[in-house]
Amino acid sequence: MIRTILTYPNPELKKKSAPVTIVTDSTRELVQDMAETMYDAPGIGLAAPQIGVHQRVIVIDISAKNEPPELIVAINPVIIHAEGDAYEEEGCLSVPSYAANVKRHARVIVKALDLDGIEQTWKADDLLAIAFQHEIDHLDGILFVDHLSTLKRELFQRKARKAAEEKQ
Ligand code: NI
Repeated sequence: MIRTILTYPNPELKKKSAPVTIVTDSTRELVQDMAETMYDAPGIGLAAPQIGVHQRVIVIDISAKNEPPELIVAINPVIIHAEGDAYEEEGCLSVPSYAANVKRHARVIVKALDLDGIEQTWKADDLLAIAFQHEIDHLDGILFVDHLSTLKRELFQRKARKAAEEKQ
C-alpha cells in the first residue's frame, strides 16, 4: 500500500525511531509499503519515519531506470565504519523542491538485519554510501537540511515558509 510521505516541517520527522525488536510479518508488511511508496514517488531511499512509523527501518534502491530494481532493506542499520569525504547534491522526498550539497563520508560499512532477521553487512561507496547516511539520519530525526551551514539553512527555512504561505 502506498503511504503518505510526511514533509518538512512535520514534527514527526524530528522524532527518533526505536529499534525493531523482532522481525515479524508486520515488519515485512511495513517494508512492502515503504518500497511501494518509494518506487511510486519515485525516490532512491525511504526511512520509516517518513511515513510516520518510528521504527529503525530503511529501504534503498539506487539502480538506474533501465536496470532491474535492486531493493536494499536494512532493519536497525548501524554504520560501523566510515571514511573519506563526499560533498554531493542531495534531495529528499520529505523536502520537496529543494536540493543542496551535503558533507558526508565517501565510504561506509553498514550492518543491519534483513527481512529474515539475519544480520547483513554492506560495504558502500559513492551514491549508496550517501543514501545509507541520509536514510539512517532520518531514524535519528535528522534531515539533510540540518547539515547545511546556518546561512544556507536560514535561506532554506525562509523559502519553505514562503512556499507554505503561498499554499494557504
Ligand atoms: Ni530523505
